[in-house]
Amino acid sequence: MGDSATVPVLLDCDPGHDDMFAILLAAAHPAIDLLAVTTVAGNGPLEAVTRNALAICTLAGLDGTVVAAGADRALNGGRHTAPGIHGESALDGAALPDPAIPLADEDAVTLMARLLEESERPVTIAATGPLTNVATLLDARPDLRGRIERIVFMGGSAGRGNTTPVAEFNVYVDPEAADRVLRSGLPLLMCGLDVTHQALAVPEVFRRLRAIGGALPSTLEALLRFYGGAYEKVFGMPDPPVHDPVAIAAIADPDVVACVDVAVTVELKGEHTRGATVVDLHRVTGAEPNARVAMELDRGRFWDLMLDAITTLAR
Ligand code: RIB
Ligand code: CA
Repeated sequence: MGDSATVPVLLDCDPGHDDMFAILLAAAHPAIDLLAVTTVAGNGPLEAVTRNALAICTLAGLDGTVVAAGADRALNGGRHTAPGIHGESALDGAALPDPAIPLADEDAVTLMARLLEESERPVTIAATGPLTNVATLLDARPDLRGRIERIVFMGGSAGRGNTTPVAEFNVYVDPEAADRVLRSGLPLLMCGLDVTHQALAVPEVFRRLRAIGGALPSTLEALLRFYGGAYEKVFGMPDPPVHDPVAIAAIADPDVVACVDVAVTVELKGEHTRGATVVDLHRVTGAEPNARVAMELDRGRFWDLMLDAITTLAR
């Protein structure tokens, strides 16, 4: 149970290689009290991402982590996965242990609501997958809005997309959910591709990861190599962007990112632009800012946070 110096966090994710690093950072960083991990269909089907979340917690020795499964499809019923990046299991690249921790009896939204009610302090919701569970929570339990400190999400982009030319994956999979969150009026921090494409796993990162030594870093390196190979093949990027832990780092150490307060909307109707986040960086629309958007990353500080977390868990 965290003390007043820690930030209570609910992490909703779709593991996914980069979600895995987000889970590890959230679990290990002393400034974060990870209340639970919830899963949402995204990088893989719900069953796959949920199994991966349980396996990651098992691999890292996070035996006390509460894991609950959420939505198996987007609000509009759509299902869109990313096997080209994460593989058929949604976490290809290394043998993972059979999950040794149980899946919660409650579904994700029920668990999130209960933890919001029980927390002594307002809770930060971190989301690194499609926002389906978060939007469902906001719709189902408007009475709990006051228990939410803010929503910090990896998603969207002020520029180009990675799933269509203009749409980033998490928002593209469930644009209606992203729209609910963006219109919620809650404090939002968006960590989009603008900042997460600065979190590149360059060769030095692999060297430092290997130097930690032990089974966990070795497995993480194999998984990261698979992810890197996919990024090279699909996007021609020699060093893969490790998107999701940027959102967690921004909670643990806010100065790791530089942000702007701007108006962000999401396109729901465009034949060619559905799922695009429209980020009014130059305030040309006159719309009031509804989100803080991270635009710059202190890369050295970020990788120190991430690798320190892995070192802590590898002990
Ligand atoms: O666009 C990148 C995001 O989509 C990351 O969260 C990745 O895990 C996928 O969910
Ligand atoms: Ca993700």
